[in-house]
Amino acid sequence: MTRVFSGIQPTGDIHLGNLLGAVRNWVDSQGATDSVFCIVDLHALTIPKDPGEIGERTLELAQVLIACGLDPERVTLFVQSHVHQHAELGWILQCNTSFGELSRMTQFKDKSSRQRDFVSAGLFTYPTLQAADILLYDTEQVPVGEDQRQHVELTRDVAERFNSRFGETFVLPEAVIPPAAARVMDLQNPTDKMSKSAETDAGTILLGDDLARTAKKIRRAMTDSDNEVRWDPAAKPGVSNLLGILGACTGRSPEELAGGYEQYGPLKADTAEAVVALLEPIQSRLGELRADPAETTRLLAGGAEKAREIAVPVLDRVVCNLGLQPR
Ligand code: TYM
Repeated sequence: MTRVFSGIQPTGDIHLGNLLGAVRNWVDSQGATDSVFCIVDLHALTIPKDPGEIGERTLELAQVLIACGLDPERVTLFVQSHVHQHAELGWILQCNTSFGELSRMTQFKDKSSRQRDFVSAGLFTYPTLQAADILLYDTEQVPVGEDQRQHVELTRDVAERFNSRFGETFVLPEAVIPPAAARVMDLQNPTDKMSKSAETDAGTILLGDDLARTAKKIRRAMTDSDNEVRWDPAAKPGVSNLLGILGACTGRSPEELAGGYEQYGPLKADTAEAVVALLEPIQSRLGELRADPAETTRLLAGGAEKAREIAVPVLDRVVCNLGLQPR
């Protein structure tokens, strides 16, 4: 079976972009693939946080992922810091990645420009830890949203360089980007991607939001004044975003959906309805999981054990090919 790996940061509630761009595709692929999904708490350290915050959010995120339909019996679901091999391979890959390559990463440019007081070195070397996450599992496919494409490409470059210097070591991974909603945009600023760090929350739909409020946010989404429903992300970003969201919720293509609408009102109403129908069962399952946090902790411990079974031999192969003194 194809080995699939992906990760998500425990930084705040997950939003509709995370769900449609990534998590739903993880859920859909389980069973047909050998999937490993990781809550990347070490990545979340790159932006300063209060003590304890990341740990708490890690548990919450695990509950959300399970509520979204990830089944820890069928996939490997674990926490990054529980498998030490990530940090170790991360260092080795940092030493095989150039300063110039990391300087070209758009996510670093974006995130560092938003940090006023303290830009950590970890924020700069972040993509090498992400490469370690992926390569540690002999990953073939990485299901992610469009914003992560550059990091997966860097991972391939680093793996190829390592293989040519030290002999065949890593499997070369490929990004798998969904056809609709690969980039869910902010509902109020549809030229920016939907993100937890947006200036106001009017354009972001959080999974835990009250559903009446969610529907209202969609009905108030920014569109344009020419009143023509057409799929054209460059010229009509607001309308195209709604078509992309509706397409991802209903499994239809945004272009095809556009033909069925003459006005923005019905498009907004249908999109709101589809999103609410998607979130409702997730929220009710989440309520049950929150009532028994020890069960989620137990599932994560089992996930880390399964993850180590794959990661330990891969890191041994890396150390052996590097020619370090055997342990
Ligand atoms: P993160 O935590 O920011 O996002 C998790 C997933 O959600 C996708 N996503 C979106 N998709 C569509 N529209 C949006 N507006 C949107 N916002 C986020 C992301 O593309 C991602 O798939 N660096 C990664 C985490 C990571 C990782 C990995 C991913 C660490 N190691 C190894 C894959 C493989 C990140 O910050 O994702």
